[in-house]
Amino acid sequence: MTDRYAVIGNPISHSKSPLIHAMFAAQTGQDISYEAIEAPLDGFAATITRLRTTGYRGCNVTVPFKFEAFKLATELSERALSAQAVNTLLLRDDSIVGDNTDGLGLGRDIQENLQTRLDAKRVLLLGAGGAAYGVVLPLLQTGASMTVVNRTTAKADELARHFAAHGHIATHSFDSLAGQQFDIVINATSSGLSNELPPLPETIFAPDALAYDMMYGRETPFMAFARERGARVADGLGMLVEQAAEAFFIWRGVRPDTHAVLSRLRTA
Ligand code: ATR
Repeated sequence: MTDRYAVIGNPISHSKSPLIHAMFAAQTGQDISYEAIEAPLDGFAATITRLRTTGYRGCNVTVPFKFEAFKLATELSERALSAQAVNTLLLRDDSIVGDNTDGLGLGRDIQENLQTRLDAKRVLLLGAGGAAYGVVLPLLQTGASMTVVNRTTAKADELARHFAAHGHIATHSFDSLAGQQFDIVINATSSGLSNELPPLPETIFAPDALAYDMMYGRETPFMAFARERGARVADGLGMLVEQAAEAFFIWRGVRPDTHAVLSRLRTA
């Protein structure tokens, strides 16, 4: 029988995950189905119960349910615990295992697809919300030197304290960044959604810097700002494909070829 999977969010109609997992399944010969399900804003837990009782084997979780998924899981991976969020659930008869593949997806996209080393690099993470928490641990584990900047500086300090056992994170306000340069600048704020630019100093990018926006689908003001200042620019499509590949591996024990899928999505 075909094993069933889904991505759950609200809204969800724009999701590329069904297409990505269909390509992974075709490529690896796995007999699975994968659909997008919109859960009511107050109905995430009920949706998971329905999926479990109708034989689904796992799901991805996206905005705004990642924290609810974290609370609902009966077992959590280290990376889900550190992120305080879950984007991948493994549905078993007697347990719900929560994991988070976002940070690993970002790290793989930067290091493998974009051929950019993270170790010993000066990495600046913009934002201290859910998207930022999701990627900090795998970034720290690469040996990168990490700085976090947030409009509300207390939240950046709180993030640094939360991850202190895993490594040092310097914190800044946007004003206090003046005069500093970074090799990799990652936008984990939601500023792109409102078409706004985080207030970065003009000289923030070191020579040959990479500017990475975790959003995808269009050029954000952050990406345009970076391009105009000579940085290499990437959007979050590669991260989306890589986090999906890790979820696929958790469920199926097989690693798809992400390069082929990413290049098909880029040309589509
Ligand atoms: P998400 O889950 O997408 O991270 P969130 O938890 O609401 O959403 O966090 C949004 C992040 O984007 C926060 O770090 C927010 O900064 P504040 O904590 O100061 O609010 C940041 N953010 C949103 N719009 C921004 C903007 N225009 N410039 C800079 N930072 C912005």
